[in-house]
Amino acid sequence: MKPSDPSGHDSLWREEVSFRTADEQYVARRQFGTFLVLTSLGMFVGNLWILAKSWFFQQPLYPLRPVARAGDIAPGAVKLFQYPGEHDPCILVRLGSGEYVAYSQKCTHLSCAVYYEKGRDRLECPCHEGYFSVRTGAVLQGPPPRPLPRVRLESRGDQLIATGITLNPEEI
Ligand code: FES
Repeated sequence: MKPSDPSGHDSLWREEVSFRTADEQYVARRQFGTFLVLTSLGMFVGNLWILAKSWFFQQPLYPLRPVARAGDIAPGAVKLFQYPGEHDPCILVRLGSGEYVAYSQKCTHLSCAVYYEKGRDRLECPCHEGYFSVRTGAVLQGPPPRPLPRVRLESRGDQLIATGITLNPEEI
């Protein structure tokens, strides 16, 4: 039986703190259950916060950067540029059709610089004769294990803008 205060009401602390051994076990189990519920609730709210934050505060992964002006490059010619960082060499090629394509200039084998071989209309790596399709970046021959990362391009007015990198150009 729980002791009462002079006013006849049980104090809150008497309900929570038991003086009997049997009741202590009960209180411990109840507290543990409360702890589990509150912890689960806290984790649920935390996950909701992370989800909301990633949904509403997404940062663009790549900068937008002008790489050329329309007409700067003749069909079959190239322009070298850096993207997305200052130490990331890339190559822009204007195809015979007039379309522009751009890739990382680092060969996916051992990072030698690829160049455009106009006569064969492909990108070539001089180190181990790795060849890539200039239209898709796919490996045509040699030891490179992956296609060249492709720089996504957008035309805005007379500017050609780099907007990001696609690691597998065949998914475009
Ligand atoms: S580094 Fe390009 S083929 Fe080896």
